[in-house]
Amino acid sequence: MHRKDFIKQFGYLIAVLPASSALLSSCAGLYYASFVEEGRVLRISKGEFQQVKGGKQIERDFVVIQSDSMRYPIGIFKTQNSNYLASLMQCTHRGCELNIGGGIFNCPCHGSEFDRSGRVLEGPAEENLESFEITTDYENIYVHVR
Ligand code: FES
Repeated sequence: MHRKDFIKQFGYLIAVLPASSALLSSCAGLYYASFVEEGRVLRISKGEFQQVKGGKQIERDFVVIQSDSMRYPIGIFKTQNSNYLASLMQCTHRGCELNIGGGIFNCPCHGSEFDRSGRVLEGPAEENLESFEITTDYENIYVHVR
């Protein structure tokens, strides 16, 4: 195959691959949990926080849920004393969708950071994230959305 033919045939793939891998790596750490929507309550099994890695059962620090009825996902962190914190992943600066990394919410647009409970750690955002009441029972976590 001639160089020119090769570029014609695979040039598109070469152009698309770096963009695809960047997209995948930015989403690689987010686990989207299954849940059931019961009116204004989202029910998530506590089992969604467990995973098997290298043959061992370990706990996830957080999961993300995305409801069709909400424009942004909700990030749910599990605390050390087995409580849960839920915040809307919408930056309060100009509304970009947040990422989660290093145990905090961070904004890809202008760099704002929020702690696990949604409080501002770093601007330019000045307001805390919208957070939701959480109740639990033996098996489930209930996120009360408004
Ligand atoms: S939109 Fe998040 S820091 Fe500006």
